[in-house]
This record gives sequence, C-alpha cells and structure tokens, in this order.
Amino acid sequence: MSAGNPPKPLGCQVLAEIPPDYVPAVQRIEDMFTVTTDKLKQITEHFVSELEKGLSLEGGNIPMNVTWVMGFPTGNEHGKYFTLDMGGTNLRVCEVVLTDGRGKYEIVQAKYKMREELKSGTADQLWGFIADCLGEFLEERHLRHSPEKVPLAFTFSYPVTQPSIRNGILQRWTKDFNIDGVEGHDVVPQLEAALEQKNVPIKIIAIVNDTTGTLIASSYEDPLIQIGSIFSTGCNAAYMENCGSIPKIKDKNLPPDTPVAINTEYGAFDNERKVLPLTPFDGEIDRASPRPGQQTYEKMVAGLYLGELLRLVLIQLHDTNGLFKGQDISRLRQTHVVDSSFLATIEEDVSEAMGDIFNLFDRQLGIKPAPHELKIVRYMVELIGTRAARLYACGIAAICKKKNIESCHVGVDGSVFNKYSHFRERAAQALREILDWPPDLKDPVTLHSAEDGSGVGAALIAALAVERSDGSLLS
Ligand code: GLC
Repeated sequence: MSAGNPPKPLGCQVLAEIPPDYVPAVQRIEDMFTVTTDKLKQITEHFVSELEKGLSLEGGNIPMNVTWVMGFPTGNEHGKYFTLDMGGTNLRVCEVVLTDGRGKYEIVQAKYKMREELKSGTADQLWGFIADCLGEFLEERHLRHSPEKVPLAFTFSYPVTQPSIRNGILQRWTKDFNIDGVEGHDVVPQLEAALEQKNVPIKIIAIVNDTTGTLIASSYEDPLIQIGSIFSTGCNAAYMENCGSIPKIKDKNLPPDTPVAINTEYGAFDNERKVLPLTPFDGEIDRASPRPGQQTYEKMVAGLYLGELLRLVLIQLHDTNGLFKGQDISRLRQTHVVDSSFLATIEEDVSEAMGDIFNLFDRQLGIKPAPHELKIVRYMVELIGTRAARLYACGIAAICKKKNIESCHVGVDGSVFNKYSHFRERAAQALREILDWPPDLKDPVTLHSAEDGSGVGAALIAALAVERSDGSLLS
C-alpha cells in the first residue's frame, strides 16, 4: 500500500476469520476492487483532460453537452409550469407554481409505473404511453381540454445534442434502454406528434437533463452549489461553464463570461479504456449490455450495475471455491436478480450474527448462507460499494480541478446516494485523498442531498428559458 492510502477497513479481519482455502480468492478480488490514492489521482488527471476535450471542436469520449440553461436562477422566477420526468421505473408528472421569493414553490405530482417492456419496445409505444399519462394528469388538473397549450419541461436523462433548449437529439440510449427509432432523432417532435394524435394540449418548451435540473434546483435553495450530480441507476454531473471556455460553440459569438450549464454525460468517461481499473466482472457486464463499449465509467459506478457486480463475484466464488456449497444457486444465476438496494441492506447489517443478510439471501435467492459465507458476502459488498464511491469522487474532483473550484457544495440526487448509507462518507474520504486536503482542514467540497431537480429544477429552467425568449417560447 502506498503512503497516504486509507487503511483497508475490514479486509484483514475478514481474511483472519474465513476458512484458509478461501483466502487467495478473496484476496484476488480485494486487489481487483481496491483503488489506491495514486490511482484515484491518475484517473482524476485523465478525467480533467477528457472534460476539456469534450468542450473542444473535435470532441472526445465525454459529450459535455451544452444545455442552453444560461446561469443560475435569481429567485425572481414566476409562473406555472408542468414537468415530466421519464425515469427508469416511473414517469413523474408535476405541476409547479413558482411563487414569490427564492426557494418558494408549490407542487402537485403524480407517478405512473413504466412497464419494463417499454425500455426495449418501439418508439411509438413509448411516446404513446407518455402522452396517455400526460392526458390523464391534465384531466385531473381540469386542463384536458384547455384551449391554450400548457407549457411543459421534459426531463429526459439521456445524452442529447441540443441545437436549442427545446430540442434534443438523442445521441445514444444509456442505462440499458434500447428503443429503436429514437437515436439520432429529436425527441421533442416525436413526443409532440403523439400528444397531437391524442389531442393532449401540451407544448414542450425545454428539454432538461436530471443533473442540470438538480444543479438549478439545488442552487435555488443553496447559493454555494456549483455542481449538480446524480448517483442512481446512472451516474453523471452538470456544472456552469463560461461560454468563452467552450470552443465548440465559438461560432455563436456569445459573451465569453456568460455561464451556461454543461451536462457532462461523464458516464462515458474512458470508453477508450486507458485508465480505469477494469476487472473481468466489468467486462462481463459490458458485454451483456445493449451498448457494449459505451458508458465504461458509469458501468463501474452506478446503481444499475452494482447488483450485477455482486452477483458475478458471488457466482465466481461459487464456481471456483464452492461458496454456498450444496445450495441451489439457480436464482442467483438470473441477471438483475440482485439490485443496489440489496447491497445497501447488506452493509446496514453490522451485527455479529448477520441475521438480516441471512434473511435477505433466503427470501430473495433461496440461499441459506453459512456464517463464514455471510462474512465473505458482506466483505464483497463492501469492496464493490467502496470502489463505486471512490471512483464516483474522481468525476466530482475533476470538475473542481478543471474549474479551479477550491470549495463548493455539490447537490447530489438519486436513490443510491440517498439510501446507501456509507456512500457519502466514502466519497468524501476519496475527495480528501484526491484533492490533498490537509488533515486539519474541514472538507471544503461537500456532497449534499439535492433538491427536486425534475420538479422544481425543470420548472425553473422553463421559467428561465421563457424569460430569455421574451415570452416567444410560450406562443
Ligand atoms: C445516464 C444518462 C444521463 C443521466 C444519468 C443519471 O448517465 O446518460 O443523462 O444524467 O444517467 O440519470
């Protein structure tokens, strides 16, 4: 271990407690998943140059999408806006009224379950379903037959090229979505055609990424926020860049010090596989995904993949070392049977008997682990969760370095960030190592649970866009 690295938390203890014939295999996995301080720094350095490259005319792996959200809200934004968030499991529709004063708003919302099949169905099925949900929501708000079209901000959290704030050409699906006929097309006319067909009176006035929504909503409440980030099914961040530092929009001749939000889409970091410490398990996850070779960083870090990583590690320990000997592991062999909340629950159980972990395996997988197996499982989860948090910190540290930010608040949203209890402290520890903060210095960059990006954040973005267009966006 090189100087400055944190001590391995449970490792030595676990190795002393498990049967000796497991030790080499467990140590091998430990080595694969341990990311040293030096490696974190090396990854962050490369990350900074890739952020720069994404802003250049030539571009790079990281898209660095210009969102046309120009600057932070002032607190004087007003009006009623509808927002739609197409998440992985739910569709969330809100009516947001921005009222007087910074951080003040009223919100009414509804959620609609998105069937799993929609993720790999046809574009018509997707847009038709969304149009039906929006129609239902307007019905409830007594606006189904409104003579005026209702303005809507659409949180569409995938990489899009934005010729303007109300256009978004899908670069590629991420998070294992795989719907034909959308990549390479503007999603706005596609959804508007479905709305038209069903006579739903809605006009889309802004396309918003969840990270940009988070950045704007969080800064509305807390002026120290400079980065908005999501750690959930996917992993990504947005921040404000000066137009003068974005060579790829030079032809727009914008004032160089005008800020514009950049949705980094840095889940695509290191698709060239130059610096990330990939393991054979990461390779397996990539090969099984609908877009192999894409989102290399995200696949090592984000919630959608953490359960799969654990599953593959456990299967390997079963096949090579007889973990869960004599048990039927057929359920464990099914893809995506383990999700990130499974890992969070395992890490919560720090008891000697590990009864919660035992019950979880019994209930969800039909496996009754022996005591030494429970220890191994908990350690594997700790390794996978710690690696994710430490690699997550590299993206945040890279933005800070690129922008010379010495201290700021980062607004973070997403189920994994909010529910995986150790994540925050592990990421904070990694930031400390990468950014070389002296031991007596209180963390200058801190992660905070974010405000509602796809509700109030999207509504604020709509209000800012309407203001900039002098109202023409609404006509
Ligand atoms: C994926 C998407 C990105 C989104 C992130 C978090 O990385 O490509 O747009 O912000 O997931 O939801």
